[in-house]
Amino acid sequence: MTQDELKKAVGWAALDFVKPGTIIGVGTGSTAAHFIDALGSIKHQIDGAVSSSEASTQRLQHLGIPVFDLNEVDSLSVYVDGADEINGQMQMIKGGGAALTREKIVAAVADKFICIADASKQVEVLGRFPLPVEVIPMARSYVARELVKLGGLPEYRQNVLTDNGNVILDVHNLRILDPVALERSINALPGVVTVGLFAARGADVALIGTASGVKTIEK
Ligand code: A5P
Repeated sequence: MTQDELKKAVGWAALDFVKPGTIIGVGTGSTAAHFIDALGSIKHQIDGAVSSSEASTQRLQHLGIPVFDLNEVDSLSVYVDGADEINGQMQMIKGGGAALTREKIVAAVADKFICIADASKQVEVLGRFPLPVEVIPMARSYVARELVKLGGLPEYRQNVLTDNGNVILDVHNLRILDPVALERSINALPGVVTVGLFAARGADVALIGTASGVKTIEK
């Protein structure tokens, strides 16, 4: 199976976690895109979605799924999204698609985070994938210097502005042994909007696409 076929398998498997008559939190990226397509097949059974990016909003609307502003919604039964890396504690690196801030906000509202990923995203220790950090543009150099003090090698993601009008620093050279502590330290730097470590609030369920089928891991 190709990597995209594995992503498609987990995107469709996530339908098992969609509660009829509720609003669904929807992530961003190529795996989440498969989930959105799957959601389109049961669109009359759900009330709608809250989206984590302009790209996902467009895909949802194209399929005729109502998209709500998060401020109109009190609760979300689930949030379904991909990951760039996931470890055995269900902690993740996210933000390869630059949507990390809205992803973290929508995930925070949801009762359950369902991570959908092909098996290549599973790691023992987070950090081989460069850790994305969304930064207010004027703070870019300051934050980069602080990230170096934390042991990382930040790289400015050229020609990318987030949906919130900010820039991304991708931090290389990290071996993240205490993800909760690093998430807290980076989030505390003035100018940082969000770090793409989802550690304090990780996934509740991971659906992992393997050649022998979709593996379900529950926290
Ligand atoms: C988007 O900002 C990311 O957090 C994605 O969830 C992550 O990059 C996974 O992307 P793919 O599903 O495209 O691999």
